[in-house]
Amino acid sequence: MSSVTGFFIPPVSYFGEGALLEAVNFIKTKEFKKAIIITDPGIAKIGLSGKVTEILKENGLDVAIYDQTQPNPNIGNVTAGLKVLKEQDSDVVVSIGGGSAHDNAKAIALLATNGGEIGDYEGVNQSKNAALPLVAVNTTAGTASEMTRFTIISNEEKKVKMAIIDNNVTPAVAVNDPSAMYGLPPALTAATGLDALTHCFEAYLSTAASPITDCCALKGIDLIQESLEEAYKNGKDTKARTDMCYAEYLAGMAFNNASLGYVHAIAHQLGGFYHLPHGVCNAVLLPHVQSFNKKDEKSNNRLAEIASHLGAKENTADSTIERLHEFNRVLSIPRNLKELGVKVEDFEILAENAMKDACHLTNPIQFEKEEVIAIIRQAYEY
Ligand SMILES: NC(=O)c1ccc[n+]([C@@H]2O[C@H](COP(=O)([O-])OP(=O)(O)OC[C@H]3O[C@@H](n4cnc5c(N)ncnc54)[C@H](O)[C@@H]3O)[C@@H](O)[C@H]2O)c1
Ligand SMILES: [Fe+2]
Repeated sequence: MSSVTGFFIPPVSYFGEGALLEAVNFIKTKEFKKAIIITDPGIAKIGLSGKVTEILKENGLDVAIYDQTQPNPNIGNVTAGLKVLKEQDSDVVVSIGGGSAHDNAKAIALLATNGGEIGDYEGVNQSKNAALPLVAVNTTAGTASEMTRFTIISNEEKKVKMAIIDNNVTPAVAVNDPSAMYGLPPALTAATGLDALTHCFEAYLSTAASPITDCCALKGIDLIQESLEEAYKNGKDTKARTDMCYAEYLAGMAFNNASLGYVHAIAHQLGGFYHLPHGVCNAVLLPHVQSFNKKDEKSNNRLAEIASHLGAKENTADSTIERLHEFNRVLSIPRNLKELGVKVEDFEILAENAMKDACHLTNPIQFEKEEVIAIIRQAYEY
């Protein structure tokens, strides 16, 4: 196996209040003419996509819009958005929203220049051509999809999520403006923040972790410990929201390069099977997967190292895991998979599909199917 590690992030990223306008300046300097906005009905309803449309029009661009992206976007969303793009002959894509809008936009921008169907690009670096330039305006903190080379698209017929990991889907510009997040409701703030925490954990324990991704993961955990509860309680707190922007971006830098583990491998199946929110699935699974990972000595040590960053009582793996349960309680995350409506009779197929998901390849322990079922059962009965 090669010992070379790569490190991938977008060429340009903007942070802080006013970042959105900075991104519009970027679009102007590139002399794009026709922008397509990819977003979802929630973002359209709060008027954010309308506001960006106005700003782009004021700056001389034609603007088309596809605003029907669903949570856990599916092949139908990609096809419908691509149709609008072709009708307009767009030269730049602007995604506004959380992971769902960005993932849909990435898939659309990739197909616009490569042709075919999104399923053709499942796996790692399957495309030939650079995607259309994507300016990703983030509104959750979050998936970090606004800066990663991943796009996760559901195959609604097969009830599975496809992972497309491709340098060509990395956005040209990532925008994290906290003012786009002040209205994010507490439950979504909690779920998306715990998704970012999961990225930090899985990247820190990953077999592909490097000193760079370790730094990103630990600093991400520091900021989440400092500010997630505050952002949850007071969504308009500028410092807490700004900290969470940096935290989720750092978490993205970590997992974009060190990849993930069994929390995401299983969570993707729950999302594909039952349409459950990604962050909630991760939050429920995170402590349980770690209680299995700690059987590996290096992982046990790494979980103990995380303790002081996460405000755990003692510097042990068990204390870190207990702190994760406490986080879930304080942020009103459902207690277990039973509460989420997962069915015992599906454990087997969920475990089988999780073992096919590329995210598990860098988990510190490669579990047998019976062990994956045992993790799911523990998270169900807890
Ligand atoms: N590509 C990646 O790197 C990556 C990584 C992790 C997860 N994902 C994917 O991302 C998706 C989940 O994304 P998400 O958790 O960001 O949620 P989401 O994009 O599905 O959004 C959830 C809901 O929140 C609403 N919303 C978003 N921002 C808002 C705001 N500021 N104010 C009010 N409402 C707002 C949306 O309208 C939507 O109804 C899943 O499909 C998951 O698989 C992708
Ligand atoms: Fe995630």
